Amino acid sequence: MNPEQTNVVELSSVSKRFKLGTTEVDALKEISLGIRKNDFAAITGPSGSGKSTLLNLIGCLDVPTSGEVKISGTRTSDLDEKALDKLRSRAIGFIFQSFNLIPVLKAVENVMLPLQLHGLKAQQMREQAEHALRQVGLEHYIDHLPDQLSGGQRQRVSIARALVTKPNLVLADEPTANLDSSNSEAIIELMRKLNKESGVTFVFSTHDASLLGKVDRIIRIRDGKLQEDTAAAPLKKALG
Ligand SMILES: Nc1ncnc2c1ncn2[C@@H]1O[C@H](COP(=O)(O)OP(=O)(O)OP(=O)(O)O)[C@@H](O)[C@H]1O
Ligand SMILES: [Mg+2]
Repeated sequence: MNPEQTNVVELSSVSKRFKLGTTEVDALKEISLGIRKNDFAAITGPSGSGKSTLLNLIGCLDVPTSGEVKISGTRTSDLDEKALDKLRSRAIGFIFQSFNLIPVLKAVENVMLPLQLHGLKAQQMREQAEHALRQVGLEHYIDHLPDQLSGGQRQRVSIARALVTKPNLVLADEPTANLDSSNSEAIIELMRKLNKESGVTFVFSTHDASLLGKVDRIIRIRDGKLQEDTAAAPLKKALG
């Protein structure tokens, strides 16, 4: 297969069932979709529809009850926990709704954290972290602690932290949920710019319909089912 046609992540007929005591919830039902290189996609749908569950499966933070997940063509079910950890830490960056920054560490130190496992010297880690902070426009805030930054700036730090390992794919679960509308737009526009200029593939979930005009692809789920994928038609065509 032409490597350019290999999806960054491929879900085939993926379902996820959660068991809580005697109750079972089918959080995702038979979802098939491929995340393609350079995608800029939003997952949307009502609360409880399965957005976070879907992102967790795409990011291999969780495993499906049935169906298959492939990263860059590799079946994740063929990998042991250690190999999966390694793949995830090199290939995927994560951005969270609540930023998840360490309060006692400066911006640059927070951004350096994902590099700890990459066997770099301290100076190299620092240079890469400063570069990532420049990419998100925070070159003047490298020594600030998280509580000395605004919400929008904190989310920029967490975007820099997601980018610092140069992942193929960045996933974000409701990255703008704790931001006001102008900061939300600015964060999506920043991700868009990084997508265009650096070729980073982005998939994020959002409740906010006003952000959907800014994406190339909308993946809409409802009750765990794929309702709409605006890339489905061209994807099917490309796959013949
Ligand atoms: N760890 C879990 N254990 C049991 N049930 C779960 C678990 N995680 C999610 N669920 C259930 O799976 C369904 C989908 O949840 P999910 O968090 O993916 O929805 P969501 O679309 O992200 O919602 P929101 O917009 O509120 O964040 C819900 O019914 C939820 O209660
Ligand atoms: Mg959610």
